[in-house]
Amino acid sequence: VKASAPARPAPWWEVRRQDLLDIAPSAGAMYVYDTATVAARANAVAGLKHVDAAWFAMKANPHADVLRTVEAAGIGFECVSMGEVARVRETLPALPASRILFTPNFAPRSEYEAALEFGTHLTIDGLHPLREWPDLFAGKEIILRVNPDRPRGHHEHVRTAGPKAKFGIPLEQLGHAAELAKAAGAVVKGLHAHAGSGITEAGHWREIGRILGEAAAGIGGVKILNVGGGLGVPDSPDAPVLDLSEVDRELGGVKRALDGVELWMEPGRYLVAEAGVLLARVTQVKTSFGTRFIGISTGMNSLIRPALYGARHEIVNLSRLGEPPAGLASIVGPICESADLLGADRLMPETREGDVILIAEAGAYGAVMSSRYNLREPAGETVLQAL
Ligand code: LLP
Repeated sequence: VKASAPARPAPWWEVRRQDLLDIAPSAGAMYVYDTATVAARANAVAGLKHVDAAWFAMKANPHADVLRTVEAAGIGFECVSMGEVARVRETLPALPASRILFTPNFAPRSEYEAALEFGTHLTIDGLHPLREWPDLFAGKEIILRVNPDRPRGHHEHVRTAGPKAKFGIPLEQLGHAAELAKAAGAVVKGLHAHAGSGITEAGHWREIGRILGEAAAGIGGVKILNVGGGLGVPDSPDAPVLDLSEVDRELGGVKRALDGVELWMEPGRYLVAEAGVLLARVTQVKTSFGTRFIGISTGMNSLIRPALYGARHEIVNLSRLGEPPAGLASIVGPICESADLLGADRLMPETREGDVILIAEAGAYGAVMSSRYNLREPAGETVLQAL
């Protein structure tokens, strides 16, 4: 007999339903963030016993209030562009550069120069910078990103390792990279790998730790292993939940095997996905060839994840929460593309023009990936007042 999964607590957006209905815009759409949820996730990550430093992959959500909340938990920032570094500096002017980890990919020389001048940690993602710009790295400590050849994640587009990936240094080139670093007068203080996004098996980070540990033994002197991000969140009420304490236990195994090494992690989605919802209004409904379409006031211009990755987001009619389903429906936006489908075949109640539709787990890679396609303004962003 299969034991039924323990009941999960009601999501914050159910508890705060009336507040959300009050702030839902009458036209267009709005991302709403609950910073209490960000704080809870950030504190949980900051509390991991075997993680010596955590860095928020701010590409997931660079909203200023999110950055302030994450920082208050003692987490630093992983930035991939000087635009992200500038956002952190504007938002948190007193933050020391040592709380920023710059991890660019195929960036121009000028960005490495600027980051080193400011004094961030720096991850190098290939041989080119070391071979062509050795003058930049004299007397500096650097981290090398390797390609662990373990592609992982919820969709092909988010797997960042393996033979087809543009990221990292293949393990067989790592010795050469270390020689180039030495010749430049740089010290390799750390190794890094990030294999992909949306991973729910805790053992993944132990495997990455083991691969990095072996690579570190080959070059010597490495003090830090950054095992990356990719911590997944459930995309439906019965999807698997990543157990953070299990991740910690697995990392404990890595630490015991590698005496004295520091472990770093850089989660993005885990800290913010569940803290954000997208609110929109029903514009029109239609039944066509037996399919019920519920049209809403924004689409792939605000949330591109379903179109780009086939990602699943929970969708509810917030105005009629708890009403009995009236059958299946497809929830679509107003964009002139067939991929503008936010959710297919969802059980939805009888739904009317003007109802508020809520799309959940939209706090990561939502607003930041939006566009003005069709010249429709994407959803704005607001933060829910604390209770
Ligand atoms: N570290 C590095 C080097 C990364 O490239 C990324 C994400 C992260 C950490 C954080 O990954 P996370 O913990 O958020 O999974 N737009 C896609 C995800 C792309 C992730 C890109 N890199 C999505 O919406 O699923």
